[in-house]
Amino acid sequence: MAWAAGILRASKRVSAAGVDLRDLSIALRPSRVLRVPLSRAWWSVTPTSTMSTLKGELIQHFSSEEPILHTKVSIIGTGSVGMACAFSIIAKGLTDELALVDSNEEKMKGETMDLQHGSVFMKMPNIVCSKDFHVTANSEVVVITAGARQAKDETRLNLVQRNVAIFKVMIASIVKHSPHCKLIVVSNPVDILTYVTWKLSGFPKNRIIGSGCNLDTARFRYMLGERLGIHSESCHGWVLGEHGDSSVPVWSGVNIAGVPLKELNSAIGTSKDPEQWGNVHKEVIASAYKIIKMKGYTSWAIGLSVADIAESILKNLRKIHPVSTKIKGLYGIKEEVFLSVPCILGENGISDIIKVRLSPTEEAQMVKSAETLWEIQKGIKF
Ligand SMILES: NC(=O)c1ccc[n+]([C@@H]2O[C@H](COP(=O)([O-])OP(=O)(O)OC[C@H]3O[C@@H](n4cnc5c(N)ncnc54)[C@H](O)[C@@H]3O)[C@@H](O)[C@H]2O)c1
Repeated sequence: MAWAAGILRASKRVSAAGVDLRDLSIALRPSRVLRVPLSRAWWSVTPTSTMSTLKGELIQHFSSEEPILHTKVSIIGTGSVGMACAFSIIAKGLTDELALVDSNEEKMKGETMDLQHGSVFMKMPNIVCSKDFHVTANSEVVVITAGARQAKDETRLNLVQRNVAIFKVMIASIVKHSPHCKLIVVSNPVDILTYVTWKLSGFPKNRIIGSGCNLDTARFRYMLGERLGIHSESCHGWVLGEHGDSSVPVWSGVNIAGVPLKELNSAIGTSKDPEQWGNVHKEVIASAYKIIKMKGYTSWAIGLSVADIAESILKNLRKIHPVSTKIKGLYGIKEEVFLSVPCILGENGISDIIKVRLSPTEEAQMVKSAETLWEIQKGIKF
Protein backbone atom coordinates (compact mmCIF):
# COMPACT_ATOMS: atom_id res chain seq x y z
CA MET A 1 0.00 0.00 0.00
CA ALA A 2 2.79 2.36 0.98
CA TRP A 3 4.51 1.35 -2.24
CA ALA A 4 1.45 2.30 -4.28
CA ALA A 5 1.16 5.63 -2.48
CA GLY A 6 4.80 6.30 -3.27
CA ILE A 7 4.17 5.87 -6.97
CA LEU A 8 1.08 8.04 -6.83
CA ARG A 9 2.98 10.87 -5.18
CA ALA A 10 5.75 10.53 -7.68
CA SER A 11 3.37 10.75 -10.63
CA LYS A 12 1.55 13.66 -9.03
CA ARG A 13 4.82 15.59 -8.64
CA VAL A 14 5.73 14.67 -12.18
CA SER A 15 2.47 15.95 -13.63
CA ALA A 16 2.42 19.04 -11.37
CA ALA A 17 5.75 20.11 -12.73
CA GLY A 18 4.71 18.99 -16.18
CA VAL A 19 7.77 16.79 -16.32
CA ASP A 20 7.87 13.20 -17.32
CA LEU A 21 11.41 12.37 -16.33
CA ARG A 22 11.19 9.00 -18.06
CA ASP A 23 10.88 10.59 -21.49
CA LEU A 24 12.50 13.93 -21.10
CA SER A 25 15.48 13.77 -18.86
CA ILE A 26 18.25 11.75 -17.39
CA ALA A 27 18.10 11.95 -13.65
CA LEU A 28 20.60 11.02 -11.02
CA ARG A 29 19.08 9.71 -7.83
CA PRO A 30 15.53 10.64 -8.93
CA SER A 31 14.41 9.92 -5.38
CA ARG A 32 15.84 13.31 -4.43
CA VAL A 33 13.84 15.16 -7.07
CA LEU A 34 10.66 13.51 -5.98
CA ARG A 35 11.68 13.00 -2.40
CA VAL A 36 10.55 9.37 -2.72
CA PRO A 37 12.87 6.63 -1.49
CA LEU A 38 14.58 4.67 -4.24
CA SER A 39 12.63 1.52 -3.40
CA ARG A 40 9.31 3.42 -3.74
CA ALA A 41 9.83 5.37 -6.95
CA TRP A 42 8.29 4.78 -10.37
CA TRP A 43 11.37 3.11 -11.76
CA SER A 44 11.08 0.42 -9.10
CA VAL A 45 8.76 -1.54 -11.39
CA THR A 46 8.63 -4.65 -9.29
CA PRO A 47 7.12 -4.36 -5.84
CA THR A 48 9.37 -6.09 -3.35
CA SER A 49 6.29 -7.62 -1.74
CA THR A 50 5.46 -9.91 -4.68
CA MET A 51 8.84 -10.84 -6.09
CA SER A 52 12.06 -11.48 -4.28
CA THR A 53 14.80 -9.26 -5.65
CA LEU A 54 18.25 -8.39 -4.37
CA LYS A 55 17.01 -4.89 -3.61
CA GLY A 56 14.03 -6.29 -1.75
CA GLU A 57 16.28 -8.60 0.24
CA LEU A 58 18.63 -5.73 1.05
CA ILE A 59 16.28 -2.86 1.83
CA GLN A 60 13.38 -2.79 4.25
CA HIS A 61 11.03 0.12 3.57
CA PHE A 62 10.82 2.18 6.72
CA SER A 63 8.65 5.25 6.10
CA SER A 64 7.02 7.16 3.25
CA GLU A 65 8.43 10.54 2.30
CA GLU A 66 6.39 13.54 1.28
CA PRO A 67 7.73 15.62 -1.61
CA ILE A 68 9.19 18.83 -0.15
CA LEU A 69 10.44 22.06 -1.64
CA HIS A 70 14.15 22.27 -2.29
CA THR A 71 16.64 24.60 -3.95
CA LYS A 72 16.85 24.32 -7.70
CA VAL A 73 19.18 26.01 -10.16
CA SER A 74 18.96 25.63 -13.93
CA ILE A 75 21.66 26.33 -16.48
CA ILE A 76 20.76 26.95 -20.10
CA GLY A 77 23.64 26.01 -22.39
CA THR A 78 26.00 23.15 -21.59
CA GLY A 79 28.98 24.59 -23.47
CA SER A 80 32.29 25.51 -21.84
CA VAL A 81 30.79 28.34 -19.78
CA GLY A 82 27.59 26.54 -18.78
CA MET A 83 29.51 23.51 -17.54
CA ALA A 84 32.02 25.65 -15.62
CA CYS A 85 29.04 27.35 -13.96
CA ALA A 86 27.53 23.93 -13.21
CA PHE A 87 30.74 22.60 -11.68
CA SER A 88 31.33 25.75 -9.61
CA ILE A 89 27.75 25.71 -8.29
CA ILE A 90 28.06 22.03 -7.37
CA ALA A 91 31.47 22.52 -5.73
CA LYS A 92 30.00 25.23 -3.53
CA GLY A 93 27.06 22.97 -2.60
CA LEU A 94 24.57 25.68 -3.52
CA THR A 95 21.68 23.59 -4.77
CA ASP A 96 19.77 20.35 -4.18
CA GLU A 97 18.82 20.05 -7.82
CA LEU A 98 20.61 21.18 -10.96
CA ALA A 99 18.81 21.17 -14.32
CA LEU A 100 20.75 21.50 -17.56
CA VAL A 101 19.21 22.44 -20.92
CA ASP A 102 20.83 22.53 -24.34
CA SER A 103 19.61 22.19 -27.90
CA ASN A 104 22.57 19.89 -28.57
CA GLU A 105 21.19 16.79 -26.87
CA GLU A 106 24.25 14.58 -27.30
CA LYS A 107 26.61 17.13 -25.76
CA MET A 108 24.17 17.86 -22.94
CA LYS A 109 23.67 14.19 -22.06
CA GLY A 110 27.39 13.50 -22.24
CA GLU A 111 28.20 16.41 -19.93
CA THR A 112 25.45 15.37 -17.51
CA MET A 113 26.59 11.75 -17.30
CA ASP A 114 30.20 12.81 -16.88
CA LEU A 115 29.25 15.03 -13.93
CA GLN A 116 26.99 12.39 -12.39
CA HIS A 117 29.79 9.85 -12.40
CA GLY A 118 31.78 12.08 -10.06
CA SER A 119 29.14 11.65 -7.40
CA VAL A 120 31.27 9.25 -5.35
CA PHE A 121 33.86 12.00 -4.87
CA MET A 122 31.66 15.00 -4.22
CA LYS A 123 28.22 15.47 -2.68
CA MET A 124 26.39 15.88 -5.98
CA PRO A 125 22.94 17.39 -6.10
CA ASN A 126 20.32 15.65 -8.18
CA ILE A 127 21.29 16.47 -11.78
CA VAL A 128 18.67 16.35 -14.53
CA CYS A 129 18.90 17.41 -18.15
CA SER A 130 16.66 17.79 -21.14
CA LYS A 131 16.23 19.63 -24.41
CA ASP A 132 12.84 20.59 -23.03
CA PHE A 133 12.53 23.50 -20.61
CA HIS A 134 10.04 21.47 -18.55
CA VAL A 135 13.06 20.18 -16.72
CA THR A 136 13.78 23.66 -15.29
CA ALA A 137 10.38 23.92 -13.57
CA ASN A 138 10.37 25.72 -10.21
CA SER A 139 13.96 26.96 -10.36
CA GLU A 140 15.04 29.63 -7.93
CA VAL A 141 17.86 30.78 -10.19
CA VAL A 142 18.26 30.27 -13.94
CA VAL A 143 21.64 30.96 -15.56
CA ILE A 144 21.64 31.71 -19.30
CA THR A 145 24.83 30.82 -21.16
CA ALA A 146 23.26 29.80 -24.48
CA GLY A 147 23.18 31.91 -27.58
CA ALA A 148 24.56 32.49 -31.03
CA ARG A 149 28.29 33.07 -31.49
CA GLN A 150 29.58 36.07 -33.43
CA ALA A 151 30.24 35.08 -37.04
CA LYS A 152 33.27 36.42 -38.93
CA ASP A 153 32.68 40.07 -39.95
CA GLU A 154 29.22 40.04 -38.36
CA THR A 155 28.04 43.36 -36.87
CA ARG A 156 27.15 43.50 -33.20
CA LEU A 157 23.57 44.45 -34.06
CA ASN A 158 23.24 41.44 -36.34
CA LEU A 159 24.56 39.13 -33.62
CA VAL A 160 22.16 40.69 -31.12
CA GLN A 161 19.25 40.29 -33.53
CA ARG A 162 20.07 36.58 -34.01
CA ASN A 163 20.22 36.20 -30.24
CA VAL A 164 16.87 37.97 -29.80
CA ALA A 165 15.28 35.25 -31.95
CA ILE A 166 16.85 32.56 -29.73
CA PHE A 167 16.06 34.43 -26.50
CA LYS A 168 12.39 34.89 -27.48
CA VAL A 169 11.81 31.14 -27.31
CA MET A 170 14.19 30.54 -24.41
CA ILE A 171 12.94 33.29 -22.08
CA ALA A 172 9.27 32.48 -22.71
CA SER A 173 9.94 28.86 -21.74
CA ILE A 174 11.94 29.78 -18.63
CA VAL A 175 9.29 32.24 -17.45
CA LYS A 176 6.51 29.73 -18.05
CA HIS A 177 8.15 27.09 -15.87
CA SER A 178 9.80 29.29 -13.21
CA PRO A 179 7.76 32.50 -13.00
CA HIS A 180 9.43 33.55 -9.73
CA CYS A 181 13.07 32.83 -10.60
CA LYS A 182 16.01 35.20 -10.66
CA LEU A 183 17.68 35.24 -14.10
CA ILE A 184 21.44 35.53 -14.43
CA VAL A 185 22.46 36.40 -17.99
CA VAL A 186 26.00 35.42 -19.04
CA SER A 187 25.75 35.15 -22.86
CA ASN A 188 27.45 37.93 -24.80
CA PRO A 189 27.05 40.77 -25.51
CA VAL A 190 25.97 40.44 -21.90
CA ASP A 191 24.74 43.98 -21.16
CA ILE A 192 22.53 44.07 -24.25
CA LEU A 193 21.24 40.52 -23.74
CA THR A 194 20.40 41.40 -20.12
CA TYR A 195 18.25 44.24 -21.50
CA VAL A 196 16.72 41.83 -24.04
CA THR A 197 15.97 39.35 -21.22
CA TRP A 198 14.35 42.09 -19.14
CA LYS A 199 12.18 43.16 -22.09
CA LEU A 200 11.15 39.62 -23.04
CA SER A 201 10.57 38.25 -19.54
CA GLY A 202 8.36 41.01 -18.18
CA PHE A 203 10.15 40.41 -14.86
CA PRO A 204 10.81 43.31 -12.50
CA LYS A 205 14.32 44.73 -12.89
CA ASN A 206 15.52 43.30 -9.54
CA ARG A 207 15.17 39.73 -10.87
CA ILE A 208 17.29 40.31 -14.00
CA ILE A 209 21.02 40.21 -13.33
CA GLY A 210 23.72 40.42 -15.98
CA SER A 211 27.04 38.84 -14.94
CA GLY A 212 28.48 42.08 -16.36
CA CYS A 213 31.74 43.24 -14.79
CA ASN A 214 31.81 40.62 -12.04
CA LEU A 215 34.49 38.79 -14.03
CA ASP A 216 36.32 41.96 -15.17
CA THR A 217 36.55 43.05 -11.52
CA ALA A 218 37.86 39.65 -10.43
CA ARG A 219 40.53 39.78 -13.13
CA PHE A 220 41.43 43.35 -12.12
CA ARG A 221 41.84 42.38 -8.46
CA TYR A 222 43.90 39.34 -9.39
CA MET A 223 46.24 41.40 -11.58
CA LEU A 224 46.62 44.13 -8.94
CA GLY A 225 47.53 41.37 -6.51
CA GLU A 226 50.08 39.92 -8.90
CA ARG A 227 51.80 43.30 -9.16
CA LEU A 228 51.77 43.93 -5.41
CA GLY A 229 52.41 40.40 -4.16
CA ILE A 230 49.11 40.46 -2.22
CA HIS A 231 46.26 37.95 -2.47
CA SER A 232 43.49 39.15 -4.80
CA GLU A 233 40.93 38.95 -1.99
CA SER A 234 42.84 41.70 -0.15
CA CYS A 235 43.04 43.93 -3.23
CA HIS A 236 39.93 46.08 -3.40
CA GLY A 237 38.80 47.78 -6.56
CA TRP A 238 35.90 47.87 -8.98
CA VAL A 239 35.58 47.68 -12.73
CA LEU A 240 32.19 49.08 -13.76
CA GLY A 241 30.18 49.96 -16.87
CA GLU A 242 30.09 47.80 -19.96
CA HIS A 243 31.54 44.27 -19.76
CA GLY A 244 34.63 43.97 -21.94
CA ASP A 245 36.53 46.51 -23.97
CA SER A 246 34.92 49.72 -22.68
CA SER A 247 34.73 48.78 -18.99
CA VAL A 248 35.71 51.49 -16.50
CA PRO A 249 38.30 50.90 -13.77
CA VAL A 250 37.43 53.11 -10.79
CA TRP A 251 40.96 54.02 -9.69
CA SER A 252 39.71 56.47 -7.08
CA GLY A 253 38.35 53.53 -5.07
CA VAL A 254 41.27 51.11 -5.41
CA ASN A 255 42.67 50.40 -1.96
CA ILE A 256 44.68 47.91 0.04
CA ALA A 257 43.66 47.57 3.69
CA GLY A 258 41.85 50.91 3.40
CA VAL A 259 44.88 52.72 1.92
CA PRO A 260 43.74 54.39 -1.34
CA LEU A 261 46.43 53.87 -3.97
CA LYS A 262 45.50 57.24 -5.48
CA GLU A 263 46.78 58.94 -2.29
CA LEU A 264 50.19 57.36 -2.92
CA ASN A 265 50.21 58.01 -6.67
CA SER A 266 47.83 60.78 -7.73
CA ALA A 267 48.34 59.96 -11.43
CA ILE A 268 47.36 56.31 -11.02
CA GLY A 269 45.38 55.01 -13.97
CA THR A 270 46.24 58.00 -16.16
CA SER A 271 48.74 58.24 -19.02
CA LYS A 272 50.87 60.56 -16.82
CA ASP A 273 51.51 57.80 -14.28
CA PRO A 274 55.25 56.93 -14.43
CA GLU A 275 54.44 53.41 -13.19
CA GLN A 276 51.65 52.92 -15.74
CA TRP A 277 49.21 51.18 -13.41
CA GLY A 278 46.62 51.72 -16.13
CA ASN A 279 48.20 48.72 -17.85
CA VAL A 280 46.52 46.51 -15.25
CA HIS A 281 43.13 47.38 -16.73
CA LYS A 282 44.50 47.06 -20.28
CA GLU A 283 45.59 43.52 -19.34
CA VAL A 284 42.10 42.80 -17.97
CA ILE A 285 40.63 43.68 -21.37
CA ALA A 286 43.30 41.80 -23.30
CA SER A 287 43.10 38.68 -21.10
CA ALA A 288 39.82 37.35 -22.54
CA TYR A 289 41.25 37.57 -26.08
CA LYS A 290 44.53 35.99 -24.93
CA ILE A 291 42.80 33.05 -23.24
CA ILE A 292 40.50 32.49 -26.22
CA LYS A 293 43.54 32.53 -28.52
CA MET A 294 45.28 29.96 -26.33
CA LYS A 295 42.47 27.57 -25.30
CA GLY A 296 39.58 28.54 -27.56
CA TYR A 297 37.22 29.89 -24.90
CA THR A 298 37.15 31.18 -21.32
CA SER A 299 35.34 29.14 -18.72
CA TRP A 300 36.69 28.63 -15.19
CA ALA A 301 36.79 32.21 -13.92
CA ILE A 302 33.38 33.07 -15.41
CA GLY A 303 31.96 29.83 -13.93
CA LEU A 304 33.31 30.69 -10.47
CA SER A 305 32.08 34.27 -10.76
CA VAL A 306 28.55 33.12 -11.67
CA ALA A 307 28.56 30.70 -8.70
CA ASP A 308 29.54 33.64 -6.48
CA ILE A 309 26.56 35.66 -7.74
CA ALA A 310 24.23 32.65 -7.34
CA GLU A 311 25.49 32.10 -3.78
CA SER A 312 24.58 35.65 -2.74
CA ILE A 313 21.07 35.14 -4.09
CA LEU A 314 20.45 31.62 -2.81
CA LYS A 315 21.84 32.35 0.66
CA ASN A 316 20.40 35.89 0.80
CA LEU A 317 23.87 37.19 1.65
CA ARG A 318 23.37 40.84 0.63
CA LYS A 319 26.92 40.86 -0.71
CA ILE A 320 27.88 43.56 -3.23
CA HIS A 321 28.71 42.51 -6.79
CA PRO A 322 29.52 44.57 -9.89
CA VAL A 323 26.67 43.20 -12.00
CA SER A 324 24.73 44.56 -14.94
CA THR A 325 21.47 46.24 -14.00
CA LYS A 326 19.06 48.84 -15.39
CA ILE A 327 21.03 51.99 -14.81
CA LYS A 328 18.58 54.59 -16.14
CA GLY A 329 18.60 57.65 -13.88
CA LEU A 330 22.16 57.18 -12.59
CA TYR A 331 25.02 59.35 -13.88
CA GLY A 332 22.53 61.27 -16.01
CA ILE A 333 21.80 58.21 -18.17
CA LYS A 334 18.34 58.53 -19.68
CA GLU A 335 18.06 55.38 -21.77
CA GLU A 336 17.00 51.87 -20.76
CA VAL A 337 20.47 50.38 -20.75
CA PHE A 338 22.05 47.80 -18.47
CA LEU A 339 25.54 48.48 -17.13
CA SER A 340 27.51 47.21 -14.14
CA VAL A 341 27.45 49.10 -10.87
CA PRO A 342 27.94 47.66 -7.38
CA CYS A 343 24.64 45.96 -6.47
CA ILE A 344 23.45 44.39 -3.23
CA LEU A 345 22.35 40.84 -4.04
CA GLY A 346 19.98 38.77 -1.94
CA GLU A 347 16.99 36.46 -2.22
CA ASN A 348 15.04 38.98 -4.33
CA GLY A 349 17.94 39.57 -6.68
CA ILE A 350 19.17 43.16 -6.78
CA SER A 351 17.71 45.08 -3.82
CA ASP A 352 19.95 48.17 -3.83
CA ILE A 353 22.63 49.93 -5.84
CA ILE A 354 25.69 51.61 -4.36
CA LYS A 355 26.06 55.17 -5.63
CA VAL A 356 29.75 55.20 -6.53
CA ARG A 357 31.18 58.71 -6.92
CA LEU A 358 32.95 58.64 -10.25
CA SER A 359 35.51 61.15 -11.47
CA PRO A 360 34.31 63.31 -14.42
CA THR A 361 36.38 61.13 -16.80
CA GLU A 362 34.93 57.91 -15.40
CA GLU A 363 31.39 59.30 -15.57
CA ALA A 364 31.96 60.38 -19.17
CA GLN A 365 33.12 56.83 -20.00
CA MET A 366 29.91 55.40 -18.46
CA VAL A 367 27.75 57.79 -20.44
CA LYS A 368 29.63 56.93 -23.63
CA SER A 369 29.09 53.18 -23.03
CA ALA A 370 25.40 53.85 -22.40
CA GLU A 371 25.16 55.76 -25.69
CA THR A 372 26.95 52.99 -27.61
CA LEU A 373 24.65 50.34 -26.15
CA TRP A 374 21.54 52.39 -26.86
CA GLU A 375 22.62 52.88 -30.48
CA ILE A 376 22.49 49.08 -30.84
CA GLN A 377 19.45 48.50 -28.65
CA LYS A 378 17.24 50.97 -30.45
CA GLY A 379 17.76 48.99 -33.66
CA ILE A 380 16.56 45.70 -32.12
CA LYS A 381 13.33 44.28 -33.55
CA PHE A 382 11.40 42.38 -30.88
N1 LIG B 1 29.67 37.48 -19.43
C1 LIG B 1 30.89 37.01 -19.39
O1 LIG B 1 31.73 37.47 -18.60
C2 LIG B 1 31.26 35.86 -20.30
C3 LIG B 1 32.48 35.20 -20.19
C4 LIG B 1 32.75 34.14 -21.05
C5 LIG B 1 31.82 33.77 -22.02
N2 LIG B 1 30.64 34.44 -22.10
C6 LIG B 1 29.62 34.08 -23.09
O2 LIG B 1 28.95 32.90 -22.67
C7 LIG B 1 28.34 32.31 -23.81
C8 LIG B 1 28.64 30.82 -23.83
O3 LIG B 1 29.99 30.59 -24.12
P1 LIG B 1 30.54 29.10 -24.38
O4 LIG B 1 32.00 29.22 -24.56
O5 LIG B 1 29.98 28.19 -23.35
O6 LIG B 1 29.84 28.79 -25.77
P2 LIG B 1 29.52 27.35 -26.35
O7 LIG B 1 29.26 27.54 -27.80
O8 LIG B 1 30.56 26.38 -25.89
O9 LIG B 1 28.16 26.93 -25.61
C9 LIG B 1 26.92 27.47 -25.91
C10 LIG B 1 25.91 26.36 -25.78
O10 LIG B 1 24.61 26.91 -25.98
C11 LIG B 1 23.85 25.95 -26.69
N3 LIG B 1 22.72 26.62 -27.34
C12 LIG B 1 22.75 27.48 -28.39
N4 LIG B 1 21.49 27.87 -28.68
C13 LIG B 1 20.66 27.28 -27.79
C14 LIG B 1 19.28 27.28 -27.56
N5 LIG B 1 18.47 28.01 -28.35
N6 LIG B 1 18.78 26.55 -26.55
C15 LIG B 1 19.58 25.80 -25.78
N7 LIG B 1 20.92 25.75 -25.94
C16 LIG B 1 21.45 26.45 -26.94
C17 LIG B 1 24.83 25.34 -27.68
O11 LIG B 1 24.39 24.08 -28.14
C18 LIG B 1 26.09 25.26 -26.82
O12 LIG B 1 26.22 24.00 -26.18
C19 LIG B 1 28.88 33.07 -25.03
O13 LIG B 1 27.92 34.01 -25.43
C20 LIG B 1 30.12 33.76 -24.48
O14 LIG B 1 30.47 34.90 -25.22
C21 LIG B 1 30.34 35.46 -21.26
